Amino acid sequence: MRAFIFDLDGVIVHTDRFHYRAWKQTADEMGIYFDEQINHRLRGISREQSLEIILEKYDREPLSREQKQELMDRKNGYYRKLLGEMTPDDVGAEVRSTLGKLREAGYKLGIGSSSKNTKYILEKVELLKIFQAVSDGTNIRKSKPDPEVFLKAAEFLHENPGDCYVVEDAYAGIDAAKAAGCISIGIGEAGKYVGADYRIGSFSELLEFLP
Ligand code: BG6
Ligand code: MG
Repeated sequence: MRAFIFDLDGVIVHTDRFHYRAWKQTADEMGIYFDEQINHRLRGISREQSLEIILEKYDREPLSREQKQELMDRKNGYYRKLLGEMTPDDVGAEVRSTLGKLREAGYKLGIGSSSKNTKYILEKVELLKIFQAVSDGTNIRKSKPDPEVFLKAAEFLHENPGDCYVVEDAYAGIDAAKAAGCISIGIGEAGKYVGADYRIGSFSELLEFLP
């Protein structure tokens, strides 16, 4: 194995709670029921698909494309405001030191995220430099569970997908990693997903994958 590709939200940073707050505010303003349970289904999938899931509880006149775009922009505005408060301290010491040790051991590190805010987040937490490649919502057409984001990450790293581990907290992300031919490692929510090749309880357990 030659590389580790990481999902961002829920793996490197805990922005998943910000996604929840931003969607909750948007849904509340629209009078749409939304809770943590529904939020779980949004893990790993694109902004567009997230909105479609939220709108399953919307029973008035179907919204136009423009209205949907306005809701996504509104949510992203709330989300960016929350992201604006992030600092390097939002990445735990365990994550930072584990990434450093994986690099020292000679592995390439990349990001494979559905988010169009990936680079902004990595800048805020000062982690952009440790990753040799970033594949994110700005360079894909299909989001997880489609393998595109991880195939692109492997390509950007100049590695075969089969030589890359993918670390993911979303079931859709594990499915995407497997479809790409990568070796999947579930953490957080996906730490109990039987579909993952491996499951870990904490980030530093990645060091156990070193030869
Ligand atoms: C993923 C999140 O990382 O990014 C999803 O897990 C989110 O919940 C997706 O919908 C898209 O994010 P963004 O920042 O482009 O709206
Ligand atoms: Mg995630």
